[in-house]
Amino acid sequence: MSKENNIDPYDSFLMVPGPTIVDSRVRNVMSNNQMGHLSEEFTEDFVKLLELSKKLFGTKNASPFVITGSGTIAMEATVLSLLEKNNTGLILDTGYFAQRFGQMLDCYSINSNTLPFDFGSHADPDVLKSELNKNNYDAVFITHVDTSSTVMNNISDLVKVVKDSGSLAIVDSVCGVGGCELYFDKLGADVVLTTSQKAIGSVPGAGLMMLSQNAIDLLENRKSIIPSYYLNLKKWKVHMDNPKTYVATPAIQVMVALKTALEIIMEEGLENRWNRHKKVAQAVHAGIDSLGLDFVAEENYRAYTVTGFHVPKGKAISIQSELKSRFNVEVASGFGDMKNDSIRVGHMANIGHNEVGRFLNGLESILSEYDNTIKKGTVVDAISQILK
Ligand SMILES: Cc1ncc(COP(=O)(O)O)c(C=O)c1O
Repeated sequence: MSKENNIDPYDSFLMVPGPTIVDSRVRNVMSNNQMGHLSEEFTEDFVKLLELSKKLFGTKNASPFVITGSGTIAMEATVLSLLEKNNTGLILDTGYFAQRFGQMLDCYSINSNTLPFDFGSHADPDVLKSELNKNNYDAVFITHVDTSSTVMNNISDLVKVVKDSGSLAIVDSVCGVGGCELYFDKLGADVVLTTSQKAIGSVPGAGLMMLSQNAIDLLENRKSIIPSYYLNLKKWKVHMDNPKTYVATPAIQVMVALKTALEIIMEEGLENRWNRHKKVAQAVHAGIDSLGLDFVAEENYRAYTVTGFHVPKGKAISIQSELKSRFNVEVASGFGDMKNDSIRVGHMANIGHNEVGRFLNGLESILSEYDNTIKKGTVVDAISQILK
């Protein structure tokens, strides 16, 4: 028990923007007996995991890849496997994670250009269209939910503009898949990638990628060798087609946990889950709004999985630590220059009424000590209709 408030530390609410609270069914399968990486049992589980991944991404025809690592490994494997040195990529810069793609292209001396958007603003499809009319790109990198700015881009419109120009559309949905609507086949992107520890609600340790047939053809027919052993999707394709083959030992427990998390998602139903995330996000937004706080992301583009909001100047770190010490709710600070003045709260996967209630009530209580116009019960009034 925590000495200060008697709240069981295991009852702490992890509300950073991933990793997030993990269901006990997922945690429990990790303590089963060790399986061999080429055993019948694990191979069967892995085949099931790939099938479930296709369901999660809403695809019948695309090729799933699940490899040990995190979201960054999925980003880097995609960059290295699909782009060659003489290619040029365009980064839609909506924040820190979009910029990470640019850094990766730089690492491998692949040409890149950046289309910048104000921090907190969405990537505008018209601005993209006019750039693509002026210059040719082999690939455009889109971030679905940029966890730094907490903006949720309209990926359908952006992917359509990219595909009309003939470029590859690569979507980082690390903070989207499992929490925000996404049907891969309908979207028409070439790659959508994510990771296990965010809206999917599993433990960290797996990077997931879904590749269109167009992306697979490009992979198979590229001219230069892929300058990586582990991040080489050509090698991993052989393993995904036949998981009895060996590339490298996967984190077996992580994969079994992920399979279980996907089973739980299918039990809930994908669309039910997306609707639940939207409702929880609406409650978080209404609660924050009722406290008179401003959002980091512009209206209509606030994510359903994470929310960034401004707090009184210089108070972010102390509010963050009070939320933890007094209410046992762990949130993240804002990004970069906004670190001292803003907070990000994750509300994905297993975050529901209880967690949102405790977070908002805690925030109300802390803020009312700075601002005596905030009345007790403000957030309850604001969210009770939404979470009814
Ligand atoms: C949008 C986005 N892309 C990529 C990443 C990198 O993922 P990971 O930390 O799992 O490597 C993150 C992590 O928060 C993210 O939010």
